Amino acid sequence: MKKAILKERSSHNIGASRPPVGVEVSGLSKNFGTQRVLKDISLTVKPGEIFTIMGPSGSGKSVLLRQIAGLDQPTRGTVRIEGLDPTDPDTRDRFALALVFQAGALFNSISVYDNLALYPLEHRLCPKNEIRDRVMRALKILSLENAVKKFPSELSGGMKKRVAIARALVMEPQLLLYDEPTSELDPIMSATITEIIATLKTEFNVTSIVVSHDRDLALTISDRVALLMRGELKALCTPTELRKVEDPAVKDFLNPTIDLKKPRYQQLEAS
Ligand SMILES: Nc1ncnc2c1ncn2[C@@H]1O[C@H](COP(=O)(O)OP(=O)(O)O)[C@@H](O)[C@H]1O
Ligand SMILES: [Mg+2]
Repeated sequence: MKKAILKERSSHNIGASRPPVGVEVSGLSKNFGTQRVLKDISLTVKPGEIFTIMGPSGSGKSVLLRQIAGLDQPTRGTVRIEGLDPTDPDTRDRFALALVFQAGALFNSISVYDNLALYPLEHRLCPKNEIRDRVMRALKILSLENAVKKFPSELSGGMKKRVAIARALVMEPQLLLYDEPTSELDPIMSATITEIIATLKTEFNVTSIVVSHDRDLALTISDRVALLMRGELKALCTPTELRKVEDPAVKDFLNPTIDLKKPRYQQLEAS
């Protein structure tokens, strides 16, 4: 995989046109009705780093990613990408951002090629022949050339994830956001996707924000990790520092024990 990418990079220079961008989240809170999903989150993502947002299911990771992507307005606080508001349609074109959705969000009724080409064609991102080049390049980088004419229903879970990443690469992003890129994959495929994320960072010098509860991914490839619990930032540090955090909730999340004498399901809150 790495060799293929290196070869592609030297001949095509994909993604190298614009430098990676930094992200600043300040005092961000998000409520849905009376539910306080995110509580006063502040963090800075440096250009070019892999920043992983970890946390249990329902802790607010996807909601935070959507605010960063500009898909949703915070209740309080701000998100700035290179100083610009991602929800402002006038500034959105000033940086290239791409989001890899959790379920891939592929269109099932069109081919892999069309899934990649649709957005750039509709938004006239660049001339048609360049879109074709970009699509073929992205497919090659992710070893998907043989899938170009296939439909999403014909692909395995791992291939669908790779198609979703390839579609993001077509945007030549300066900021790449991934929502649970390894969920529902077997351990080998999860490791493959983890390697792809790390390789894309170094080869294309892109800022990557990864939402994941995959401990292996978070602790191996991240430059820094933010740990969200019940909408609050519990830790913001390097993977090495995270392993040393003494907070029992953090330790339990990273290394949960299975204790049949005191089962967790009997301690769940009624909701
Ligand atoms: N659009 C929405 N409307 C109402 N509640 C929402 C919405 N999106 C998310 N939530 C709630 O916010 C909480 C956090 O969700 P989410 O960010 O998806 O969690 P996760 O950490 O698993 O990604 C959940 O309780 C979810 O039900
Ligand atoms: Mg989620």
